[in-house]
Amino acid sequence: MAAAASAPGADAFAGRIAIVTGGGSGIGEALVRALAARGTAVVIADIDRAGAESVASSVTAGGGPVSTAVLDVRDAGAVSALVNEVAAEHGKLDFIFNNAGIAVGGLVEELTLDHWNRVLDVNLRGVVHGVHAAYPLMLRQGHGHIVNTASLAGLVPGPSLAPYAAAKHAVVGLSLSLRAEGASRGVKVSAVCPGFVDTPLLGRVNPDLPQTEIGANAAALARQLGRLYQADALAQDVLRGVQQNKALIVAPRSARVAWRMARYAPGFTMRSIISGVRRQGAQVAAAESAQEAQAAEPSGPAKSP
Ligand SMILES: NC(=O)c1ccc[n+]([C@@H]2O[C@H](COP(=O)([O-])OP(=O)(O)OC[C@H]3O[C@@H](n4cnc5c(N)ncnc54)[C@H](O)[C@@H]3O)[C@@H](O)[C@H]2O)c1
Repeated sequence: MAAAASAPGADAFAGRIAIVTGGGSGIGEALVRALAARGTAVVIADIDRAGAESVASSVTAGGGPVSTAVLDVRDAGAVSALVNEVAAEHGKLDFIFNNAGIAVGGLVEELTLDHWNRVLDVNLRGVVHGVHAAYPLMLRQGHGHIVNTASLAGLVPGPSLAPYAAAKHAVVGLSLSLRAEGASRGVKVSAVCPGFVDTPLLGRVNPDLPQTEIGANAAALARQLGRLYQADALAQDVLRGVQQNKALIVAPRSARVAWRMARYAPGFTMRSIISGVRRQGAQVAAAESAQEAQAAEPSGPAKSP
C-alpha cells in the first residue's frame, strides 16, 4: 500500500487512527484528548474499563471519534487481536502509543521477584506486544508511527527505581533499534522520555505488591522537586515531537538538562546521584532514630479527655 502523506498545510493528525494503551488515566488520557482534538480517531485500550469509559465520555465532541477496548497489554494475543480489529475496521492503523505502565519502586534489597516481574511484564513486554502486533501491519501498509512511552529513567540512572529503570532503558533501546530498521520502510518509531509528570501513577507505586518506603512516599517526594509537569503539556510536546519525527521526545526542559548531563558528564552525574542517595539515606536514618527515641520516652501522666 502507498504511504499516507499529509497534504501540505494539513494537520498530520486529522483523519488518522490511533490506539493509545493506558489511555484511561494520566499521560494516556492527555494523549487521547490531544489526539481527538486534532481530529484523530482514538481507541483507548486500558485494563481499567471504568477509567477508559470515563475518559471517552469526557472527550469533547467535534474532534475525532473515541472508543474504548478493555485490554491487558501483558496478553500478547489480545494486543494482536485489537490491533488487527482496529486496522480492519478503519482500513489502516496510523499510530500506536504503547503507553500503559505501572510504577515499581524501592531499594533493590526490599524488592521481591514479583516487583521485577510485574514491571517487566507491563512496562517492557507490554510494549513488545504492541510492537510485535503493529509493526508488521505498518510495514505492509508502508506507513505508521509507533510511539513508546519510556521515561527519563530510561536515559539516566534511577536509584530506588532499578526494575522500572531497567524496563524503561529497554524500551529506549528497543525503540531506537526498531527506528533504524523501520526508517527506510516507511515506519517511524519514537520513544517518549518524560521526567516526573503529575498523574495518579505517583500515588500508586507498587500496585498490589508489598509496599516500600519510597513507594509509599513517591508522590510527596516528587512534589518536593517543585511544580510538577502536567500531562496535558506533555501530550502537546509528544504530538509536536511525533510530527517532527523525533527519535526521543525528552521533556520537560529539566529532563533534557538531566539527560545532557548524563551524556556529556557521566562521571559527574553518577557522583551527584550517589551523593543524593547518601543524603536521602541519612535523612531516613535520622527520621527513624527520632521515631525510636520518641517511642522509648516514658509517657507522661494520662490525661482525662
Ligand atoms: N507519571 C510519571 O511521572 C511518568 C514519568 C515518566 C514516564 N511515565 C510513564 O508514562 C506511562 C503512563 O503513566 P501515567 O503516569 O499516565 O500513569 P497512570 O497510572 O495515570 O496511567 C497508566 C494507565 O495504564 C493502565 N494500565 C496499567 N497496567 C495495564 C495493563 N497491564 N494493560 C493495560 N493498561 C494498563 C492503567 O489502568 C492506567 O489507566 C507509563 O508507561 C509510565 O511508566 C510516567
